[in-house]
Amino acid sequence: MPRIALIPGDGIGIEVVREARRVLECLAARESLDIELTDWDLGAERFLRDGVTITDEEFRVLDEEHDAVLLGALGDPRVPTNQHAKDILLGMRFRLDLYVNYRPSTLLFPELSPLRDAKPFRIDIFRENTEGEYTGIGGSFKTGTPDEIALEENVATRKGVERIVRAAFDFAHKQGRSRVTLVDKSNAMRHVGGLWRRVFAEVAEEYSGIETDAMYVDAMAMDLVRRPERYEVVVAGNLFGDIVSDLAAEVTGGLGMAPSANVHPGKNALFEPVHGSAPDIAGQGVANPLGAIRCVGLLFEHFGHPTAARHIEDGVRASFASRDTTQDLGGTLTTEEVGRWFVDYLEKAYSA
Ligand code: NAD
Ligand code: IPM
Ligand code: MN
Repeated sequence: MPRIALIPGDGIGIEVVREARRVLECLAARESLDIELTDWDLGAERFLRDGVTITDEEFRVLDEEHDAVLLGALGDPRVPTNQHAKDILLGMRFRLDLYVNYRPSTLLFPELSPLRDAKPFRIDIFRENTEGEYTGIGGSFKTGTPDEIALEENVATRKGVERIVRAAFDFAHKQGRSRVTLVDKSNAMRHVGGLWRRVFAEVAEEYSGIETDAMYVDAMAMDLVRRPERYEVVVAGNLFGDIVSDLAAEVTGGLGMAPSANVHPGKNALFEPVHGSAPDIAGQGVANPLGAIRCVGLLFEHFGHPTAARHIEDGVRASFASRDTTQDLGGTLTTEEVGRWFVDYLEKAYSA
């Protein structure tokens, strides 16, 4: 029985997870998947109230007594240091060693894209999730003086690079995708870049049927707007993967639609929409819950229920076709109305 922790977090995270939960419960019943949901009060409220972000014991329980986490978003203007998000979100990624951050973006309808003449395409981003520029290794010296020095190291290990590159090629192989593109900045950062390029070339040797390509991140960002259909599977370090996944989300329908899965294959998994807590629209009931709902699709796929995942993608298509969407996609529904519409759609799909 999969045990799933629900962490709505902050801002619109709370609103979209409420709808994702509705969909999750509906699908679990329809798929006869026995799940156990636990509610977690982790986020800015708790931090401001108790001064606690997440405890070691909570990490242990998440790791040992759960099979997956569904998270909304973390980030609150009242916590300008973003300490709780670092401890909770980056904490889970690092401490549960969720080294694959898989971020698929699919353009279902050309009119969803801000790009001129866009044709439907799909880009699957594999973002390294446990090292890079995110480890916190660094420091600040003579802080607050005119001589201040700040360091934030970019950490790349042979093991870390190899396992994410391999995950990208494995995925391409299994899904029958024809090209894997490495995105880096090895022209300027040759130590880390050199390691990535060497490992990428070595792993590629094992996958003779798959075309390879390497792009500097600046040129790739431009090219993703110019000819997005050229990109199939993309592998990148932590920071570049973060940036290009927001870009890929926007050109395929907006941040509100994009899901992600943070995974240690064969072990734990954390599902979260790519978007953040969106303080600019929080509390208004207008947040698009489709990114979070698509996370439920990835979750069912993860637990071996591809039909459920397919129904979710069909539902996303259907909701746009009938404009049963939130306003970012041209509709007039609230977050909750989209959630209820989705459950209704799924009930009909399973009864058909
Ligand atoms: P954001 O993704 O929260 O918002 C960017 C823009 O996209 C905003 O205009 C927002 O209104 C819009 N948007 C985002 N999600 C939407 C949705 N579901 N429906 C409709 N519109 C949506 O990014 P930001 O403003 O840079 O970050 C806000 C906070 O969220 C920060 O504290 C940031 O650190 C945090 N954050 C958290 C996560 C996470 O927990 N996984 C991810 C990204 C950002
Ligand atoms: C994301 C977010 C996080 C990241 C932030 C909130 C630390 O932008 O999940 O994409 O950079 O990984
Ligand atoms: Mn991001």
